[in-house]
Amino acid sequence: MAVQINPSILSADFARLADEAKAVEGADWLHVDVMDNHFVPNLTLGVPVVESLSRATDTPLDCHLMIADPDRWAPRFVEAGAGSVTFHVEAAAAPVRLAREIRAQGARASMALKPATPIEPYEDLLPELDMLLIMTVEPGFGGQAFLDIMLPKIRRTRELISKHGLELWLQVDGGVSESTIERCAEAGADVFVAGSAVYGADDPAAAVRALREKAGA
Ligand code: DX5
Ligand code: ZN
Repeated sequence: MAVQINPSILSADFARLADEAKAVEGADWLHVDVMDNHFVPNLTLGVPVVESLSRATDTPLDCHLMIADPDRWAPRFVEAGAGSVTFHVEAAAAPVRLAREIRAQGARASMALKPATPIEPYEDLLPELDMLLIMTVEPGFGGQAFLDIMLPKIRRTRELISKHGLELWLQVDGGVSESTIERCAEAGADVFVAGSAVYGADDPAAAVRALREKAGA
């Protein structure tokens, strides 16, 4: 299980996105939080920014769509240059069809669960996905405290992935820092999103290296 560290540009300076992307070279993916003030109570960025960012960096883009109607929008983010697109199962009308569409476009398909959404009803969907995202805060804002109560869900999801012999990556997002990443890794996560822990640091690239080391890479 290879550890991957994905800095979230939500905590970066939006006026200097190209430089902020370069500041974390060595990271595996750049995590891009798309919010619509409908699915979550916050508003961030959309397709044009992803298009520009994909031209500005060689780091692949991991787009996390916290928006209503992902069935309509997710394919647009693949066209804009995203290498991985995550939609929320709570918002998707047809998650299987959507995952297949994203894969058919040549991107990685990923599904996210809010803290109150259990994994068990979606066990049969796992083979349709390249990644599952377990939110470790309520989606909407950076800088929130890590929810320890999500650790059992991470553990149960890792067991399901093993049981079915899948290659699926298991991502955690929210409150991931040097003090919480070990718990996530121990529970079975292998892809770690970190916003404030990376962009709040004096040296973001060093913060990525420190997180990678703590996660056991
Ligand atoms: C929250 C976003 C996260 C956020 C994480 O809704 O999905 O990706 O940027 O920020 P931190 O790491 O500061 O919790
Ligand atoms: Zn996110």
